Amino acid sequence: MALKNKRILIIVGGGISAYKSLDLIRLLKKNKVDVKVILTKSGKEFVTPLSITTLTNNKTFEDIFDKNSEADIDHIALSRWADLIIVLPTTANFMTKLTIGKAEDLATTVLLASNKDILLVPAMNVRMWLHKATQKNLKVLQDYGYYFIGPEKGEMVCGEYGEGKMSSPRQIFSYLKNYFDKKNLIKHKNFKALVTTGPTREYIDPIRYISNESSGKQGYEVALALNRIGIKTEIIAGPSDLPPSRDLKIKRIVSAKNMLSEVKKSLPVDVAICAAAVSDYKPIKKSKKKIKKNSSNLDNIKLEKNIDILEYLSKNNKFRPKIVIGFSAETENVIQNSIAKIKEKYCDLIIANDVSKKDFGFNSEYNKVSIIDKKGKIQSIPKNKKSYIANTIAKIILDKLLLNDKNIN
Ligand SMILES: Cc1cc2nc3c(=O)[nH]c(=O)nc-3n(C[C@H](O)[C@H](O)[C@H](O)COP(=O)(O)O)c2cc1C
Repeated sequence: MALKNKRILIIVGGGISAYKSLDLIRLLKKNKVDVKVILTKSGKEFVTPLSITTLTNNKTFEDIFDKNSEADIDHIALSRWADLIIVLPTTANFMTKLTIGKAEDLATTVLLASNKDILLVPAMNVRMWLHKATQKNLKVLQDYGYYFIGPEKGEMVCGEYGEGKMSSPRQIFSYLKNYFDKKNLIKHKNFKALVTTGPTREYIDPIRYISNESSGKQGYEVALALNRIGIKTEIIAGPSDLPPSRDLKIKRIVSAKNMLSEVKKSLPVDVAICAAAVSDYKPIKKSKKKIKKNSSNLDNIKLEKNIDILEYLSKNNKFRPKIVIGFSAETENVIQNSIAKIKEKYCDLIIANDVSKKDFGFNSEYNKVSIIDKKGKIQSIPKNKKSYIANTIAKIILDKLLLNDKNIN
């Protein structure tokens, strides 16, 4: 059983649904989960520390300045102790605090200091949920990498009907079972991924080159997202300002030729994501010296087609990754051109993005993509932060890897 001996930290917020946390705790304890609870000041108005302690068999944590509590276990240790943290119910107020990164009490400090997955379970009146401020917070929190379950549609305690009802303890329990099942499977499978990203530079002479506007951000975010869900990921990046990451091995290259040689060294992998904007053309010959103005050499810059790394990976018989994914940056007929590309390149998925706009795509924090499979099925992700889009892509990749493995075994 995936949940057995897992350690879950529950933060109980100040909403009317707080009483349901007791049902969830009971369910978890029945399944041998070790549960610790932090009760916020408002949460204490709805449930008592005595009920919680009786159910968890653990002390209920309340105040960050509680001397006994800090001596027992501090806010950093609490967050490190947990395998997963749940905020239940997550109130509108609590979402705001997380959005701006407050660390004003034990609950918010633990969350800000956490290096664990955090599941938010919103519950509030339908107007509160649909308010632009809450919806804006939701987007930011999704971008920060928080997970969400619910809210559901239904009749509320206040008598109104709509979206805002907290998911039931049973629904949350199934979610958790699924979550830990998947985690166990990923750990066991030891999946490996390779991501290429950024532009390449094809030098004409020692100081001039052919390149493009790619910033490498989308591929970088995909690599981070894959790593976060437990897929060991290596990234090969063309010249760009991508910051070094503690969690990610980045190999920096210049030309397509360098990129291909690093790709070869990285194989075998389970999945390859070719997000790099590899220059389609390169000069046939690189001049050893700077080409002078008015030089006849200027008329003689001849180009040839560059190597195609995506095609190399897709057609590689010996080490073909189980899943090969290409990116298709288009300025017109985005979908049509991308469907053609998936056939031409023998890859499994194409992620098409429109790079003709200034407010998303190349060199922007935002993107808008369509994920197309070999059968022509299209899943569109509306404009959002590249990190959000990366999380969605990473989840799709993981599901495909797990399905693939199930079909093979
Ligand atoms: C009876 C009552 C019920 C409430 N229920 C909710 C609720 O379901 N969702 C919500 O977002 N706020 C609700 N509130 C408002 C919160 O209690 C308030 O915003 C509080 O500061 C939230 O505390 P927290 O940030 O510790 O969760 C309720 C308030 C009262 C008095």
